[in-house]
Amino acid sequence: MSRKKVYVTRMIPNEGIDKLRKFFDVEVNELDRELTYQELKEKIKGKDGILCLLSDTIDGELMDVEPKVKIFANYAVGYNNMDVEAAKERNIYLSNTPGILTDATADLAWALIFATARRLTEGDRYVRAGKFKRWSPKLLLGRDITGKTLGIIGAGRIGQAVARRGKAFNMQILYYNRSRKKDFEVETDAQYVPLEELLGKSDFISLHTPLTKETTHLISDKEFKVMKDTAILINTARGPVVDEKALVKALKNKEIWGAGLDVYENEPQVEEELKTLDNVVLCPHIGSATYETRMKMAVMAADNIIAALHGKVPPNCITL
Ligand code: NAP
Ligand code: GLV
Ligand code: GLV
Repeated sequence: MSRKKVYVTRMIPNEGIDKLRKFFDVEVNELDRELTYQELKEKIKGKDGILCLLSDTIDGELMDVEPKVKIFANYAVGYNNMDVEAAKERNIYLSNTPGILTDATADLAWALIFATARRLTEGDRYVRAGKFKRWSPKLLLGRDITGKTLGIIGAGRIGQAVARRGKAFNMQILYYNRSRKKDFEVETDAQYVPLEELLGKSDFISLHTPLTKETTHLISDKEFKVMKDTAILINTARGPVVDEKALVKALKNKEIWGAGLDVYENEPQVEEELKTLDNVVLCPHIGSATYETRMKMAVMAADNIIAALHGKVPPNCITL
């Protein structure tokens, strides 16, 4: 019997590719860029399984190109790039990579908290520009972190991991979530509050919901007006959860003190004005970007494909 065929839409760590090669004929996009939607349509022809990225649009039209495809395995935990209903209608499996990237992403959220509150990137630019001539009492004054209030929006795996780190800094935790998380409350003394109360009371507001219809522009003009003028907003979730134009306005008008961003509304484009502001720290969507974590993600995505193409339900199926 001929081997099944798998397509990988972008080079990922070898551990995942090697695992797939034990069972299947594997073709990998070797280009140093993602494929266009049209290119992807061509490439999936004749394949049985696809390992894809968060930047690949997996919709019903694409699924109809090759009915043989049994699974699209996302190399990410977020799956707003995939049409879950369309896949269910077609009996196609979709999968993601939950859990193994929680700590890496929570660490990055914290890196942004530190960088923003303590003005690290401004300080780095200052030193490199040769401006550091003497110690100064008022140079680059930031904001305290220890003992402050941390507001978590979306207290799932990553949101809770960010809150736990906050406990080590003696922070008071507030959270807003679709459902209440009693175990989390017991563990961290987190208080479940309405969104508006969280926005008004938090010194740091960190976003961790998935991107859905309900969370699109969850943070916009009205929400920035409720925040303290010393508040810091951290977004490692998805860009469109924040209205980026409203964010620019809030940062420019000093309605909030700063922001730390890993994701953008029209990724990979970044609002030009954001790049001109000093009170924002910008990262290029690197929440899970450590060697260890990306290797685990590659293996997990491969395992999902291996299960599906052996007639089993993939362990991280999101279409049940
Ligand atoms: P998760 O465990 O599913 O957590 C998501 C949380 O958001 C859940 O607690 C969920 O509530 C809550 N939620 C969903 N819709 C909501 C709404 N409308 N209002 C309030 N709360 C809502 O997911 P995770 O693993 O923590 O990942 C979260 C997101 O982070 C991913 O979807 C992805 O977009 C993003 N992410 C980004 C990076 C990066 O590189 N920057 C890396 C990894 C993940 P319930 O418990 O009630 O369902
Ligand atoms: C990254 O953004 C992910 O969702 O895994
Ligand atoms: C600062 O360097 C101090 O010693 O307080």
